[in-house]
Amino acid sequence: RPPILLLSRRLYPAASRRLPQAIIMGVRKCGTRALLEMLYLHPMVQKAAGEVHFFDRDDNYNKGLEWYRMQMPHSYPGQITIEKSPSYFVTSEVSSSRTYSCHECQRETPVNSAGARYKSDIRLHPVEGQRSHCLPALPTPPPKSFEQLALFPNGSINEAYRPLAISVYHNYLHRWLEVFPREQMLIVNGDLLIEDPVSQLQKIERFLGLEARIGTHNFYFNETKGFYCLRNETSDRCLRETKGRRHPRVDPEVVSKLRRYFGEHNQKFYELVGEDLGWPE
Ligand code: A3P
Repeated sequence: RPPILLLSRRLYPAASRRLPQAIIMGVRKCGTRALLEMLYLHPMVQKAAGEVHFFDRDDNYNKGLEWYRMQMPHSYPGQITIEKSPSYFVTSEVSSSRTYSCHECQRETPVNSAGARYKSDIRLHPVEGQRSHCLPALPTPPPKSFEQLALFPNGSINEAYRPLAISVYHNYLHRWLEVFPREQMLIVNGDLLIEDPVSQLQKIERFLGLEARIGTHNFYFNETKGFYCLRNETSDRCLRETKGRRHPRVDPEVVSKLRRYFGEHNQKFYELVGEDLGWPE
């Protein structure tokens, strides 16, 4: 007969729902899902199932912190709970009046000596970023081409076009820096996360105060998808087909115009973060 394994509850610390100790945010399509799923390979990381949108949606925010906590998974003491809602980064109320709630989280869940950490995930060259944004999520084709949306008929840049506007990262980051010290944020370059996830994840492990556990054994390159996929003891899996899509060709002249436009903004961003992310100009 197979043996019966009896586990005494007393031997195990109680799992409970904890407010997140780290938050992943960014702009749309910057690779936040990939980052969260990759971090979840770490045995000391628990993740919220979906995007919680606590700080940026009034109807959620008004339900209070206890509601926020209930959206979190169970975790053991010492584990880090992470949630990702990319739009926190660009929503002004989140970085200003609502950050007191983040400070609440910090007081309440000092999971390691550094307390709560807020991670901003900013990815990639904006031209790539907004091309990605522009791809339809539904089968319906967009009414206008990306080129028509990004440029006015006279050739000037439509700065109000949302995918371009949210790619001016310094406009948003400076608000965060007004309320959080720089050392509480880690900027992850999403291009590097695609090319060499392990090196980026090791950096994040150090930032979060986690033991180094994620390594090359956790990834394999899937030629068909053209991206790294995830591996753990029990399974191999790629991100869903909505992540890592084929991008349409953008008129090279429009690309260079946008690169020139973003060059200056990117410099401002580098100055703010104190790091040159090396996006092509
Ligand atoms: P595309 O589908 O436009 O290529 P988000 O989760 O923030 O919406 O970001 C989606 C993006 O994650 C994808 O955009 C893709 O470029 C990026 N990504 C990064 N690593 C990935 C991976 N290993 N597999 C699939 N997509 C990945």
